[in-house]
Amino acid sequence: MSKDFDVIVIGSGPGGYVAAIRAAQLGLKTAIVEKWKNAEGKGVNGGTCLNTGCIPSKALLDSSHKYEAAAHEYSKHGIGLNDLSIDVEKMLTRKEGIVKQLTGGVAGLLKANGATSLFGTGKLLAGKTVEVTDFEGKVSVYTAKNVILASGSVPVDIPPARADHEFIVDSTGALEFTEVPGRLGVVGAGVIGLELGSVWGRLGSEVVVIEAMEDFLPTMDEAIAKEAAKTFKKQDLDIRLGCTVSGSEVKDGKVTLTYKKGDEELKEVFDKVIVCVGRRPYTDGLLADDCGVSTTDRGFFEVDDHCFTGVDGIWAIGDLVRGPMLAHKASEEGVMVVERIAGQKAEMNYDLVPGVIYTHPEIANVGKTEQELRAEGVEVKVGVFPFAASGRALASGEGSGFIKLIADAKTDRVLGAHCIGPSAAELVQQAAIAMEFSTSAEDLGYMVFSHPTVSEALHEAALAVNGHAIHMPNKKKR
Ligand code: FAD
Ligand code: NAI
Repeated sequence: MSKDFDVIVIGSGPGGYVAAIRAAQLGLKTAIVEKWKNAEGKGVNGGTCLNTGCIPSKALLDSSHKYEAAAHEYSKHGIGLNDLSIDVEKMLTRKEGIVKQLTGGVAGLLKANGATSLFGTGKLLAGKTVEVTDFEGKVSVYTAKNVILASGSVPVDIPPARADHEFIVDSTGALEFTEVPGRLGVVGAGVIGLELGSVWGRLGSEVVVIEAMEDFLPTMDEAIAKEAAKTFKKQDLDIRLGCTVSGSEVKDGKVTLTYKKGDEELKEVFDKVIVCVGRRPYTDGLLADDCGVSTTDRGFFEVDDHCFTGVDGIWAIGDLVRGPMLAHKASEEGVMVVERIAGQKAEMNYDLVPGVIYTHPEIANVGKTEQELRAEGVEVKVGVFPFAASGRALASGEGSGFIKLIADAKTDRVLGAHCIGPSAAELVQQAAIAMEFSTSAEDLGYMVFSHPTVSEALHEAALAVNGHAIHMPNKKKR
């Protein structure tokens, strides 16, 4: 095999593997290096997203949602169930099957597109050279015109509650509990805490979430964060804000967490604790001292809007660089970089990266919040439509929450979409498509939406922006 490539990608998460597929499609001679091993010790593609992130967490969210619906919702439909039970082992086996199918699919796609897969640890040397140490310790050296660093991220550890991976675990451990913990402590009320806290809470754990900040979901639109707090309270997630963990002790199969709220020191005893206080870029062993690039104090690569590091032919994408740590952001950066390498003028619209929390109901957003826009001095008008007024949502027993659209008061251009409710992720994605084409609320209002769908809520919110909603009274009349 020739050892010269147009592009070498280090890391095959959603940033790296998408970059490699697109590069190969563009006719660039491409190799991708990956060091992740599966349970059988074989190299596997897909990174955090497919192996221990987006996909396995959604598999468990779905299983636990079905269990909860069977326990609490089915009877409302007249469906009786006796002896409801959860077989955790089977639930985990299903999740692992999905991971295997999808990671195998990525390997197949890389091959089908003609990208060369190299399993082992990649290291960037000087002069756009990449050293790969395979699982047997054999070292090979490759050269490339371009190297894309896509080595992703790992969970942040906190000294007072370091993961022992048995009783105190990170998000990966929380996807592998073999039985439902009786009492579950969650440190961090962010995306992982809410999603994985919900999984085990639905299956019967008593969940206590300990969060350092005084505000809940502080980067969300305030109305959404307020509604989310109410929703999680109803779901018995005991979220304690303004609490800082100061210590932990594992004894007799239990974890005692010590935490401070103001001057008060408090203790709680749990069967398991998940620490999910954010993630940090992962670059261990990635860079030779003389490779020409380095990271900031916080471990990120500094890049421009096109993910260029400033060093000839070296690019960095995904969780390694600024912006939200999201799979779809990583993938689009990968596509942008290789299209630019191929001479195209690709750009990415960082203002329209949607975010979703896959709880039930889902919470999703794109664009700016009302508070951000007002702080920037933008005059806005807002349209809100509650799912309680949506026929389709009510028919599905999903009548809680709302969708909120924010438009510029002068131009009517939609600047933000925020939703908590059924199919929030899909509704916000529809808004994102419209926003990419600079839609006005009026444009969206003119569109024909199928009936009955939850999407009609987006239509009504757009109409409500200008006081024309049909299926609820409007605040102002025109
Ligand atoms: P990664 O997916 O982390 O991939 C990096 C890859 O590089 C890994 O396979 C690693 O083994 C490899 N690697 C590292 N160093 C080397 C080296 N030196 N040589 C060779 N290979 C190397 N995001 C969403 O958008 N939606 C979600 O629903 C979602 N859910 C999540 C749930 C959980 C529990 C977690 C933990 C994360 C979730 N995320 C979600 C975040 C998402 O997984 C990440 O943002 C995304 O995976 C980042 O992609 P990446 O390609 O930058 O890095
Ligand atoms: P996060 O940044 O979403 O939340 C971490 C929370 O922990 C914050 O609320 C923070 O204030 C709190 N915290 C920090 N230090 C603390 C301490 N010492 N004690 C108590 N609380 C503390 O991070 P999380 O949940 O770990 O997720 C990591 C990343 O993974 C996120 O950036 C997210 O983008 C991504 N992710 C995305 C998902 C999705 O898109 N649905 C799902 C899961 C993860």
